[in-house]
Amino acid sequence: MEELLQGWKRTSCCGEIRMEDVGKKATLMGWAAKRRDLGGLIFVDLRDRSGVAQIVFDQSRSPENFKKAERIRSEYVIAVKGSIVKRDKETVNPKIPTGEVELKVEEFKILSTAETPPFYIEDGITANENVRLKYRYLDLRRPEMQANIMMRHKVAQITRKYMDDNGFLEIETPMLTKSTPEGARDYLVPSRLHPGKFFALPQSPQLFKQLFMVSGLDRYYQIVRCFRDEDLRSDRQPEFTQIDMEMSFVEPADVLEINEGLICRIFEEAIGVKLKRPFRRLTWEEAMSRYGSDKPDTRFGLELTDISELVKDCGFNVFASAVKNGGSVRGINAKGGAAVFARRELDALVEFVKTYGAKGLAWVTITEEGLKSPITKFFSGEQMDKIIARMGGEKGDVIFFVADKNKVVFDSLGALRLELAQRLKLIDYSRFDVLWVNEFPLLEYDEQEKRFVACHHPFTSPMDEDIALLESDPCRARAKSYDIIINGCEIGGGSVRIHSRKLQEKMFSLLGFDKETAWARFGFLLEAFKYGAPPHGGIAYGLDRLVMLLCGKSSIRDVIAFPKVQNSSCPMTDAPSDVDAKQLKELHIRTDT
Ligand code: AMO
Ligand code: AMP
Repeated sequence: MEELLQGWKRTSCCGEIRMEDVGKKATLMGWAAKRRDLGGLIFVDLRDRSGVAQIVFDQSRSPENFKKAERIRSEYVIAVKGSIVKRDKETVNPKIPTGEVELKVEEFKILSTAETPPFYIEDGITANENVRLKYRYLDLRRPEMQANIMMRHKVAQITRKYMDDNGFLEIETPMLTKSTPEGARDYLVPSRLHPGKFFALPQSPQLFKQLFMVSGLDRYYQIVRCFRDEDLRSDRQPEFTQIDMEMSFVEPADVLEINEGLICRIFEEAIGVKLKRPFRRLTWEEAMSRYGSDKPDTRFGLELTDISELVKDCGFNVFASAVKNGGSVRGINAKGGAAVFARRELDALVEFVKTYGAKGLAWVTITEEGLKSPITKFFSGEQMDKIIARMGGEKGDVIFFVADKNKVVFDSLGALRLELAQRLKLIDYSRFDVLWVNEFPLLEYDEQEKRFVACHHPFTSPMDEDIALLESDPCRARAKSYDIIINGCEIGGGSVRIHSRKLQEKMFSLLGFDKETAWARFGFLLEAFKYGAPPHGGIAYGLDRLVMLLCGKSSIRDVIAFPKVQNSSCPMTDAPSDVDAKQLKELHIRTDT
């Protein structure tokens, strides 16, 4: 039977008792993590959010308490009153902060009993993630999960303080709203009062924060939930949290400045890491040509080398024609790779790059006996020597090449680069490499939709010197946009916006919206721009991704209290689920499933 508190008050948390408390009385409450019976003594590890305290029941002092303590099982919730004493030398545990002391129980209550949980409540368990998520409240009882949740809280608090210090107002934006174009599918909410009409949950507060600038609110921020109906990955959830901000009268450099301050403050206060300022900056163009990626992991080298010039007229048609057709041939030198990649591994890497659209992967291994490669036969000795020299090839290296359209070359070599770094153990996991990638293209051509789409979003301003290109060669126009990348993970992205109605209309027309569609979807923004819009810009971070990095985790699910699983459902609540026919009727909805 569960006992009641009846006036008992906790005097400290389990993880707080120390040597200086020896001799004091204390009342602790928590979960029984472990029970050890040693003759006339029972030891229990009592756990709460703050840590673990050892409590001792002594048969010789209180046979009644001792008898009751024999009933304690894992995860029982108990309250104990007693005195804090020094542990015997042999039982001191230097690994935990409370390891020198223990509480000798004088009175105790069993506040709640517990069935055996479906997995051990301890760190490093290997339980299936679906089971962990079905019983997430138990999973969150584990110390490592509690540390993640506390880190998340800390980052949110540091952010709020920093933003407040810098004159940003925390303002909420609507959740029931109209589609906001961030490139994903919307989650829709049917309207009861407007049959056949739907709200969309925001993919981001983009348009509202821009309107705040038109309102003269000057600096806005929000820690805000966003919704995107897209396929899940380890760094993507259908609902996730942004640290979102917008500022007036700024150029890109001003936004980067304030944000370097924020990121430095978060790293320093949350995990004690001092980052070097200013952060490294790479243009998109340079990021692609050196790393094959717009979110390069710069903790290791393995940079790409363009050999198009050397092979444009060579006898290997795959290479020559790629260059002639406007593509390129680029390579990566995996230093010392000959000892790691035997023939079988090389064949597997060929298959690996094919998943990124490459038609093949040429490789050259430089051995004691000379070159081994399926492509040397297509080249003269002199041509090959030049290629190897350009790639910095030495004995023991394996050099990889892909020839194709630039996009395919970058996608496949960018992915191969990460794969090679892992296999060659080149990544220093203790490091944080922070960089800005800026000057993205404004537009990209979507082959499927047969139209331009915005690389960032349609409200991003072109660079001043590229505005004229919108008429002549829009594909070459660069944007006032920037992403912040940490260890190859896109943590945030933003831009300086268009604040001229004319330019915004021009942008919509480039994106293939006719005037009517543009006004139907974004008329309120265009209208607002009639009434004096200041130059403005901003950025949004994925809070989940940032906390994931700070906690050293590889999935954002580990830092979200109740995340969704692969098929966007929740194993604990079983959402999404059926609803009453009556409810559907009220919403004017008929389903065809
Ligand atoms: P963007 O679409 O780049 O920009 O999003 C900003 C950041 O949000 C995070 N993020 C996600 N995190 C988890 N799950 C997802 N599904 C997900 N999608 C995005 C990423 C990303 O860098 N309104 C603009 C910002 C601006 O221009 O100010 C925007 O939303 O870390
Ligand atoms: P093939 O003559 O098609 O058998 O190709 C000879 C070698 O070149 C094989 O090792 C292929 O994997 C490689 N290869 C084929 N296509 C490409 C490509 N587009 N880029 C790089 N290597 C390729």
